[in-house]
Amino acid sequence: MMTIAIIGSGNVGGALAQRFIEVGHTVLVGARFPLSEKSIKLATKIGEDRFTSPARAVAQAEVIVLATPAMKTIEAVQELGDTTGKVIIDTMNTVRGMGPAGFSNTTDAILANTATHDVVKCFNTTGFENLLNPQYGEQAADMFVAGDSQWGKTVATQLAREIGFAECYDLGGNDKFTLIEQLALSWITLALFQGYGRGMAFAVLKR
Ligand SMILES: NC(=O)c1ccc[n+]([C@@H]2O[C@H](COP(=O)([O-])OP(=O)(O)OC[C@H]3O[C@@H](n4cnc5c(N)ncnc54)[C@H](OP(=O)(O)O)[C@@H]3O)[C@@H](O)[C@H]2O)c1
Repeated sequence: MMTIAIIGSGNVGGALAQRFIEVGHTVLVGARFPLSEKSIKLATKIGEDRFTSPARAVAQAEVIVLATPAMKTIEAVQELGDTTGKVIIDTMNTVRGMGPAGFSNTTDAILANTATHDVVKCFNTTGFENLLNPQYGEQAADMFVAGDSQWGKTVATQLAREIGFAECYDLGGNDKFTLIEQLALSWITLALFQGYGRGMAFAVLKR
């Protein structure tokens, strides 16, 4: 079992915190104090004793999940303390150009501003409701991961399967960070702008 620090306690951070606890991991939430309404809402579900500062959560964890607004990427990673030897899973997306200044995607900004090289992008390609429950009838949705870190991809893939995704497809290395954000933008476009609604998810068919 892993100790996981979740930074950002909103829709995505809250959903992943709940599911990782349900499947048996130790979860700490690195939050801002005084706790926001979002953090308090999550604390009522998972317990306030899990909430601490980002640096304290990271110090105790082997895996860090980043789920803050993309615009706040650099600000958020500067609060993490020493990330050497830890895996960072980036769940964020630059939507409508609102991302970290000077970077085309959030994961490159994390890599440029942290000590660890084990940074992968995962859990970003679908809505938070699907993170809470990826099951659609008999079939489960698929997840996707990208990054150069094989260890990071192994960890993200294990977590994705544990919380109920059928498969976690490897899209490639760090050069695919923008591609995997585009996959998220495709989900957002279909769900929100083309009228299919948030109750939809991607699954790969194979012969
Ligand atoms: N919503 C989705 O369905 C979805 C799906 C996939 C990926 N994503 C991506 O996931 C990310 C989070 O989305 P969300 O919907 O979960 O957002 P959200 O509900 O607005 O939550 C954002 C969280 O980030 C925290 N935060 C903001 N600025 C921070 C900072 N400087 N340092 C530390 N924490 C900070 C907020 O803290 P406070 O509570 O203290 O304000 C809040 O808990 C975004 O990049 C989004 O593109 C979203």
